[in-house]
Amino acid sequence: MNGKLITTLAVCATLTLPAPVLAKEVNQAALKQQAVGIVKQFGGSLKPALKKALKTGGPAHAIDVCSVQAPAIAQRLQKETGWSVRRVSLKPRNAETAVPDAWEKKVLEQFDARQAKGESAKKMAYAEVVDGKFRFMKAQGVEPVCLTCHAAKVSPQVEAALQQKYPQDHALGYSLGQIRGAFSLAKDL
Ligand code: HEC
Repeated sequence: MNGKLITTLAVCATLTLPAPVLAKEVNQAALKQQAVGIVKQFGGSLKPALKKALKTGGPAHAIDVCSVQAPAIAQRLQKETGWSVRRVSLKPRNAETAVPDAWEKKVLEQFDARQAKGESAKKMAYAEVVDGKFRFMKAQGVEPVCLTCHAAKVSPQVEAALQQKYPQDHALGYSLGQIRGAFSLAKDL
């Protein structure tokens, strides 16, 4: 074998070897983009519904709307996209849907730590491949409108409505900027 051929082979090897790795990375970037899109749709459907309900019927009515709309939007998005879609929290309100699994708990704790160091929730997200699934979480920070139903002190009507619908509610006591919870998405690879 002459030197030129060896060099050519060596170059080819280095060029072809990283390709599968690269393809996987590109794939993950595409998945992340899809996940971000689904989160935008979720927030983009829920927030206007919440604001409208607050405006037209007040907070107790908005709690009714939220308790029906939020799970319904998550289910619709699951059907439309094939992703698993839900919201989770370290202090869950909906005991059936929002209790985090071990991985989600770890990520939520990391989000809290990042927020405590001064990072805003606006773009806070985390993605990882876990047990053959692409998993993605996007933090949801506490904005002024959220305080009506998630602050330490809420109105007596809100308290009564929450007590009735969510007797095991843990989602009070938040202040502005804290991490209320996160959208949690997963897709089988
Ligand atoms: C009108 C009252 C109300 C307001 C305002 C409100 N929420 Fe909630 N929130 C609820 C209710 C009710 C649920 C439970 C919904 C369900 O059953 O899925 C909930 C659930 C959640 C969850 C899902 C996890 C869990 O604990 O069940 C997150 C995350 C959340 N809210 C974040 C926010 C954020 C962020 C804002 C502000 C942008 C906000 N909420 C404003 C009433 C409210």
